[in-house]
Amino acid sequence: MLKGKEIILGVTGGIAAYKAVELLRLLTKAGANVHVIMTDSATEFVTPLTFQTLSMNPVSTSLFNLISEREIGHISLADRADLFIITPATANIVGKLAGGIADDMLTTTVMATKAPILVAPAMNVNMYQNPIYKANEEKLKSHGYLFVEPAKGMLACGWEGEGKLQEPRVIFEEALAALSPKDLTGERVLVTAGPTREELDPIRFISNYSSGKMGYAVAIAARRRGAQVTLVTGPACLDEPWGVDTVQVVSTENMREVVIKKAAESTIVIKSAAVADYRPKSRTGEKIKKNAEPLVLELVKNPDILGELGKTKGDRLLVGFAAETGDLLANAAKKLMEKNLDMVVANEIGLEGAGFNVDTNIVKLLFRDGRKEDLPLMGKIELADVILDRIVEIRKQARGARC
Ligand code: CTP
Repeated sequence: MLKGKEIILGVTGGIAAYKAVELLRLLTKAGANVHVIMTDSATEFVTPLTFQTLSMNPVSTSLFNLISEREIGHISLADRADLFIITPATANIVGKLAGGIADDMLTTTVMATKAPILVAPAMNVNMYQNPIYKANEEKLKSHGYLFVEPAKGMLACGWEGEGKLQEPRVIFEEALAALSPKDLTGERVLVTAGPTREELDPIRFISNYSSGKMGYAVAIAARRRGAQVTLVTGPACLDEPWGVDTVQVVSTENMREVVIKKAAESTIVIKSAAVADYRPKSRTGEKIKKNAEPLVLELVKNPDILGELGKTKGDRLLVGFAAETGDLLANAAKKLMEKNLDMVVANEIGLEGAGFNVDTNIVKLLFRDGRKEDLPLMGKIELADVILDRIVEIRKQARGARC
């Protein structure tokens, strides 16, 4: 998503300036071409050489430092930018921008750009709560500036409270959101992910190989595109996505309880969880001890959560997943009809690069009107965006049909 994007990273003079180095790494690793502009006081905290080495671009520190004889540095950078990030942003830079002051390379470039501007403030808690600062932030927001609100915690000045720079991975996530289309604004998207676990005793359970990566990718992509997202996830070793309301569950019955409740407030449900269809008839409170006899487990059927949602579908858009080891299209089409879905994402387990526990997938999409789409091998985040593109199309068609 950041491949070929031109990003300006403005760094101002705060102790958190070193975190801008980590953000720069994340941006360049994702393929962005980053130009760093530092204020004079920022150079007291981190040297321009650090940013220059990592960005592989000259670092601008002075208004009169022209990039070439014919180009005026700040105008040329401002024109080329797809996104402008200021991190850490001091109370001083926010005040200057709100006041329209352009007296150095950073402020003049901000004034000259038409790119979205993302500001990540960091300062002492009393400065952050100062009504003058608050008014300046509100003014910039009213002009379309985006803010990554600071975190609470121990501040460098010794105070505890709001004002700590957000983690670079959060600012990175907000940068991706700033560059995403907002075509899911107003939608409340419920996503399920991961495996479920059915416990036999306090230390053993039945589960499957699902890593949760596909569902997490869908939740992340939907939030970037403006949706309000709830993720209901079985046990997965993944970080909770920033900005997503995440509910952790364990068993299929736990998942059912949360999903049925949350689905009532959702406009779109995407069920990518690999749900256990059966659970042990009973769970023992004590560890099952071995003896000379074979152990026979009796399993009972779990509720079909998606099937249940299909029965009370209404205007809600329902998307299911079908992981199969044979007869992919026939099995997926059957699930589409039987569970009353709008779309099924079908994948054949066993294909290299597809299915559980990998970062890529190869799927076929099946739609209610009989259309099918074959997608090539792609990253799960990329696939999440294709799934959401199709959801947006289905929404548009439905609106068109009603008019
Ligand atoms: N699903 C569900 N509740 C279940 C089983 C599945 O909500 N108890 C959902 C899954 O999240 C997925 C879809 O239904 O979106 C298809 O799941 P899958 O396991 O492929 O199919 P099943 O319906 O369980 O049928 P089978 O196991 O026989 O293939």
